[in-house]
Amino acid sequence: MTSLALTVRETLRYRGAIGQWSWVLHRLTGVGVVLFLALHVIDTSWAVFYPDLYVKAIAAYQSPLFTIGEFGLVFAVVYHAFNGIRIAIFDWKPELWRHQAQAAVAVLVLTLLVLAPVFLGMLSHVIDFYFTEAAIAGDKMLDVVVFSIIEQLPFIAGFVGVLAAAIVLAAVYSLISGAGPASAPKASPVERFWWSFMRVSGILILPLVFGHLALMHVVQGVFDITAAQTVAGTMASNGSIGVVPSAVEFVYHRWSYAAGGVFFWRVYDLFLLVLVTLHGFNGLRYVLTDYTSFSPFARRTAVALCTVTAAVLLAVGAAALFVPLEKDIIDEAMAATAEIYELRGEELPAALEAFLDQDL
Ligand code: HEM
Ligand code: HEM
Repeated sequence: MTSLALTVRETLRYRGAIGQWSWVLHRLTGVGVVLFLALHVIDTSWAVFYPDLYVKAIAAYQSPLFTIGEFGLVFAVVYHAFNGIRIAIFDWKPELWRHQAQAAVAVLVLTLLVLAPVFLGMLSHVIDFYFTEAAIAGDKMLDVVVFSIIEQLPFIAGFVGVLAAAIVLAAVYSLISGAGPASAPKASPVERFWWSFMRVSGILILPLVFGHLALMHVVQGVFDITAAQTVAGTMASNGSIGVVPSAVEFVYHRWSYAAGGVFFWRVYDLFLLVLVTLHGFNGLRYVLTDYTSFSPFARRTAVALCTVTAAVLLAVGAAALFVPLEKDIIDEAMAATAEIYELRGEELPAALEAFLDQDL
């Protein structure tokens, strides 16, 4: 903790100009996106394993607080991506370093230029949702968010379990290898591999993440994941299996879509999952080990925490992508959708009411 406080103080004091601030912003945006990713992979897997929780999680995402977060997330990904490309190019051609101040400004300008139309596209979905679907009243939204979060609290136990596993692993490792320096030497072959991996994976991730965000924010939009329309990137319509459209059916159609016998979106999501998790958690390891230099044990716990979390996310995320999809997840989604209608104080659509009556 001492070293984190020291970093914050020195960052504010040090007059490193734009290069220093782009380093800070790269770090903050990278860590912000990693934290989002941890929640996102777990809750996306619920579409298959706990469909009712997925419906509620998406309902919470469609609330004003998360809408603000959504704009922040898109900014973070776009800035981090362009700045990451700058870092990779400069590392590859060190003679360009003398232009680094101009390049840092260019990254900011490029980010704003790309974000202007993207934010307009996102805003049009937001306006449609809040102004044309007037029934979705603001005060009820808070009930939906609180209810959804309370239902998902048991999963916090999972995060506590991961932290406990990291502490145990660090303790066992310290017993075996003694209390020497906890980090691998920076010039080791393993560290050199990760250094190159960060650059190569960053470049490979870029089209995958941008494609994913374009579909989820501009083409379909977070609010239209639950709307009766064609599911982005497929031929199917949301609501064609269930009696009303739902977030679970949206994922069902995307993961069932096959082109030439290949489940295109499952393969796409698998590449995205593997690259982004390894890149993000190795990046988080760099950040956490920088701030735990005061104790070899804390450093080892930080490394173990990143490793165990990445392993859990890869296992859960891949499991969701590989299990065969059963249609009964959509029945479960219908029941949860009815709960959301009730929480919002909205009348149930007749088809949904009939579906629930027949189920009783
Ligand atoms: C709020 C913004 C986002 C929304 C609404 C969103 C939505 C979704 C949805 C609906 C899926 C289900 C599968 C599909 O339809 O392809 C999914 C999967 C996935 N998303 Fe996102 N996404 C967002 C941002 C991101 C970002 C920024 C990343 C990367 C850092 C990301 C990484 C992934 C991964 C790895 C999967 C596959 C998960 C698994 O294997 O279980 N998403 N996303
Ligand atoms: C979209 C394309 C991306 C590119 C081009 C990119 C590029 C980079 C580069 C070049 C680095 C510096 C590595 C080093 O210092 O050795 C880095 C660090 C990092 N990246 Fe990314 N990245 C991308 C996406 C992501 C995503 C989606 C996440 C989160 C899941 C992420 C999280 C991080 C973190 C946490 C760091 C460490 C930051 C630090 O040490 O200050 N990156 N990235």
